[in-house]
Amino acid sequence: MSVMETTTSRFGDMPGDAGPPVIGYTKQFVDGTLTTSRDRFERDGPVTWLKAMGRSWVMAMGPDACGEVLQNRDRAFDSGPGWGLLIGRFFRRGLMLLDGAEHHSHRRLMQEAFTSHRLAGYLEPLNETVTAGLAAWPRDGALDFYPTVKQLTLDVATRTFMGEQTGVEADRLNRAFVDCVRAGTAFVRFPVPGLRWSRGLHGRAVLEDYLRPRIARKRAGDGTDLFSALCHTEVEGERFTDADVLNHMIFLLMAAHDTSTITLTTMAYHLAKHPEWQDRARAESEALGTDAVAYDDLERLEVLDQVMKESLRLVVPVPGLSRYTSKDTTLQGYPVPAGTYIATNLYSVHRYHEWWPDPDRFDPGRFSPQRREDKVHRYAFMPFGNGVHKCIGMYFGGMEIKAVMHQLLLKYRLEVPDGYTMPLDWTSLPRPSDRLPLTLHRL
Ligand code: HEM
Repeated sequence: MSVMETTTSRFGDMPGDAGPPVIGYTKQFVDGTLTTSRDRFERDGPVTWLKAMGRSWVMAMGPDACGEVLQNRDRAFDSGPGWGLLIGRFFRRGLMLLDGAEHHSHRRLMQEAFTSHRLAGYLEPLNETVTAGLAAWPRDGALDFYPTVKQLTLDVATRTFMGEQTGVEADRLNRAFVDCVRAGTAFVRFPVPGLRWSRGLHGRAVLEDYLRPRIARKRAGDGTDLFSALCHTEVEGERFTDADVLNHMIFLLMAAHDTSTITLTTMAYHLAKHPEWQDRARAESEALGTDAVAYDDLERLEVLDQVMKESLRLVVPVPGLSRYTSKDTTLQGYPVPAGTYIATNLYSVHRYHEWWPDPDRFDPGRFSPQRREDKVHRYAFMPFGNGVHKCIGMYFGGMEIKAVMHQLLLKYRLEVPDGYTMPLDWTSLPRPSDRLPLTLHRL
C-alpha cells in the first residue's frame, strides 16, 4: 500500500509519496528498480520525493533537473554529505566526497596526475598488463566475461596505479573493493559480522594496510605510476599529505575499477550480440596495424568510440549521483529545504523517449558525426557526470577501455546464443547477474 503524503510533506506541492509505512521505497532504492523506472517520471515529472533508507529523498529525473543539480549554480547541492551517507565510511575524503574550496584545491593537485603526458606514460604498462592477461584466457570456448574482465581491470589498476604486480594479493584486493562498494547500499547500516556493512569496513582496512606502508617508498622514488604522481604532485607549494594520498588512492582504485569493468562488459555483450558492429570495430583495429594501441591511435578508433558511448548510455555505470542541500534552494522551481538528500537519476537522462529515439535499442550510429543524437539536449548524455565533480578519470577510462577492446578484438571473436539477453543486477552499480557467459573463438 502506498501512503500518499503529498500535502503533508516538507516539499510543498512537489509530487511524490512516502511509499509503504516504515520502509518506504528502500527495497526499490537498493535493488535499482527505482533507478530504471520510467513510471515515476511519467507520473510525477522531473522532480519527485520519496522515502528510502529512513529518509526523504528528492529524485531529479531527466536532463533538465539532473543538469541543474550537477551544475549547482546556487552552490546548494553538496557532494560530500550526499555520497557520505552511502559510501563515506568506506571511501572517506575521496575527491568526490570533498566540496567547495577544499575540493577545488585537491582537484587541481590531482589533475597533475591526469595530464596527457601522464596518460601516455600509463599506457605502456597498461598494454603490457592486457597482453599478459589475455594470454591466460582460453583459446576457444566458454568464458564468464564479467569476473574475468574485472580481474583484468584490477590487474591494470594495480600495475598502472601502483607500479606493482599484485599476484596472489589480487584476489584479496578485489574482494576488498567489492565489499566496500556493495556496503554502500546495505540494508543494515551498522556492523553485524558477515553482513555487507561489516564486510565493507573490513575491506577498507585491507586496502589501508596494503597501501600505507608503500607511501614512503613512493615519495622517495621516481616512479611513473599514479600512486607516485599523487605523492609528488605540487601546485603553488601545496602537496597531498600521506592521509590524502591514502584516501585518494582508495577512492581512485574503486572509481576506475568497477566503472571500466561495467563498460567493457556492456560493450562485449553488445558486440557479441551484434556481429556487424563487432566486424566493423575489428576492421578498424586491424587497420591500425599494431597489436597494442598507441596514445595517438586512440582517436582513430571511431567505431569503438561510438560503441563505447552507446554502451555507457544503455548501462550507465554510476546510475545515480547523490547530493545533500547545504541551504534552502529550489529545483526546477520547487522549493527544496536545507538538509535534503537528492538522487540524480542518470538512467532517466539516457533512456527516456523524450530525448532518445528508440532508447532501449543498441544503435552506436546515433553518436556518429552525421547523427549526434546526444546533442538533443546539453545534459542528455552524462555518463561521466557534469559540473565541478565531472569524472577526472574520463580520458584514462576511455584509454583503458579502448586498449583492452583493441587487443581483445584482434585476438577473439565473441559470441552469445541467439536470443540471449544479459540480466542486470542494479544493486549499487550495475552488473550481469549471470556473469555474462560468452563463447570465445581464437582468430
Ligand atoms: C567508464 C568509466 C567511468 C565512468 C562511467 C565514471 C563515472 C563518473 C561519474 C558519473 C562521476 C561524477 C560523480 C558525481 O558527480 O557525483 C565520476 C567522478 C570521478 N571519477 Fe569517474 N568514471 C569512470 C572512470 C574513472 C576512472 C578511470 C577514474 C580514475 C582513474 C575515475 C575517477 C573519478 C574521480 C576521482 C571522480 C571524482 C571527481 C570529483 O569529485 O572532482 N573515474 N566518475
